[in-house]
Amino acid sequence: MDCVQVPRTNLREEPIRKILISGAAGFIGAALAQRLPKDRTVKLLIDRIPEAELDPDFRKLIKRPDVYYLCIDLMDREAVSALPKDVDTIYHLAAVIGVEQVQRAPDRVLEVNALTALNIFHYARTLGNLRRVLFSSTSEVYAGTLKHFGIPVPTGENVPLCLEDVSTPRTSYALSKVYGEGVAFAWRHNYGIPITIVRYHNIYGPRMGFRHVIPQTFVKIAESDGKIEVPSPGHTRAFCYIDDAVEATIRCGESANTEGKIVHIGSSAEEIAIRDLVLRIADIMDRRIGSQTCRIRLARRRVDARTPQCSSG
Ligand SMILES: NC(=O)c1ccc[n+]([C@@H]2O[C@H](COP(=O)([O-])OP(=O)(O)OC[C@H]3O[C@@H](n4cnc5c(N)ncnc54)[C@H](O)[C@@H]3O)[C@@H](O)[C@H]2O)c1
Repeated sequence: MDCVQVPRTNLREEPIRKILISGAAGFIGAALAQRLPKDRTVKLLIDRIPEAELDPDFRKLIKRPDVYYLCIDLMDREAVSALPKDVDTIYHLAAVIGVEQVQRAPDRVLEVNALTALNIFHYARTLGNLRRVLFSSTSEVYAGTLKHFGIPVPTGENVPLCLEDVSTPRTSYALSKVYGEGVAFAWRHNYGIPITIVRYHNIYGPRMGFRHVIPQTFVKIAESDGKIEVPSPGHTRAFCYIDDAVEATIRCGESANTEGKIVHIGSSAEEIAIRDLVLRIADIMDRRIGSQTCRIRLARRRVDARTPQCSSG
């Protein structure tokens, strides 16, 4: 019998990867952890939610042998600096987000989002084998530019940013994310930390919670007594499904081409007006619009249907 020659490359084993996801119990973090390869990749999932309060899907995920869950508040610099030193990639997704939280506690948004970013980058400096820190930012950073100057569609990542009125709570979120982006670039400049910024645009899918327009519309329709109010019916948005967003996130975290870059993650495949979104959701729920069971009362507001709307996520 002929002896089969095994190519030498097959004999060499790839080193085990160690990937840290902050904010891992959240919508994007958990989906990302699910999607990363199972083989030879240890996932260190960090969130401040105690194990007893985690949802069943996430609990199932952290039972896998390649997954470790650590309940840590990333505001705690000492706890962060004590994390393992052999992590090679960090996806920093932890943040306080959502219109409700942003309106109620802008101080918390600024404090948590700024301090967690700082602590993560201080920690990143201590890692010997670091390949990338991916910082999650948002389309909301364009809100001020969009309102005051207008922006081209599709929008390039180099559009200058302009902050909306800093005295309004809503600005705190964009401000905290612009600050985080600045920290990432400063740590790259001063300490050579390899970074990528991703700006997510309207991601949707399972486990997204009820802070966003799609699940909120389902609830509004379910609870409606025949009509619902749609504040900005003509505003258009393009939604990106979580699986696509996560795939793009991993590519951004892995590709040499995205190092030192800002990358939009969203979809330009289908732009939909909020009015049409509501009608589509009503249809899925088998609720009739107009003369039948569910009536949409359109608020009278002048809107430009071509204007892309930034989300608060
Ligand atoms: N979902 C979107 O459409 C969207 C859009 C734009 C930007 N983003 C950004 O993407 C990232 C992930 O978003 P998401 O939708 O998964 O949010 P999410 O709220 O579902 O998840 C964020 C997680 O961070 C955790 N966290 C917050 N503060 C923490 C702290 N101090 N220590 C440890 N954990 C902490 C929370 O417990 C939560 O589980 C965020 O940074 C967000 O700003 C998301």
